[in-house]
Amino acid sequence: MAGGMVPPLPDLIRRWQHGWGVACGLAPADEADGALHVLSGKPGRNLESIVLDADGDPAALRALAAQVAGSPDPDWLTVPTTSPRQVADALSEEGVRLCTAQEHFMAISLAEHPDRPAELPYQVVLERDGPLLDVRITDERGEPAAHGLAVVHQEFAVAHNIATYRAHRRRGLGGAVMGELVREARRRGARTGLLVASRQGRQLYTALGWTPLAEVVSGGTRPRR
Ligand SMILES: CC(C)(COP(=O)(O)OP(=O)(O)OC[C@H]1O[C@@H](n2cnc3c(N)ncnc32)[C@H](O)[C@@H]1OP(=O)(O)O)[C@@H](O)C(=O)NCCC(=O)NCCS
Repeated sequence: MAGGMVPPLPDLIRRWQHGWGVACGLAPADEADGALHVLSGKPGRNLESIVLDADGDPAALRALAAQVAGSPDPDWLTVPTTSPRQVADALSEEGVRLCTAQEHFMAISLAEHPDRPAELPYQVVLERDGPLLDVRITDERGEPAAHGLAVVHQEFAVAHNIATYRAHRRRGLGGAVMGELVREARRRGARTGLLVASRQGRQLYTALGWTPLAEVVSGGTRPRR
């Protein structure tokens, strides 16, 4: 990570959540009881709570899990952890319905990120809106082929919603989107990249030099009958 000093995981989670929240247009999170709480607006996720120190404070994790399990609304718990099995067991025991798709919290020193421009006939457009960077790649007919967002705040850049349309995958566009975002983020002084990756995304980011900080286990309130 940039500068050699790795900030503690809870600090990196706060940094990531801030960028993710801005990218999704969410209100700032409330921090309480060892988690960041945010009205996420996603279906099935009324209140999303992101646990800051699941590995260091398992009692707080269980209390948060019990809250989500007992909520009258469909709430959601997101848990970055280096012990995903134990966390999954704790969530299940407290009555949370586990999400089967585990994600990955990853980071990179942006100075080491490769720059891989998209090849012709693809066209790349970067739009800037305050801290938000929005990259779109179109094909020779002007149809969308890939896109991605990043939010730059102080020395951190948080990438979000990176995707390549199916017909255009494995042609370097995911790498090109990331390279474009990183180039602009570095120009603005960002030194460390953070993101939460899907399983597929992890393959891309690993190929670009990102490394895992933690696994992300998540789950929600069981639907009421
Ligand atoms: C993940 C995703 C963005 C990758 O986009 P892409 O344009 O296919 O990625 P690239 O062509 O730039 O891939 C660069 C390298 O990353 C690795 N890689 C990317 N996708 C991979 C996959 N599905 N399996 C294995 N390796 C993969 C490979 O090393 C690849 O190089 P190669 O094709 O020469 O082997 C795309 O699969 C996608 O949109 N998936 C669905 C949405 C998603 O999960 N987004 C990530 C959210 S975190």
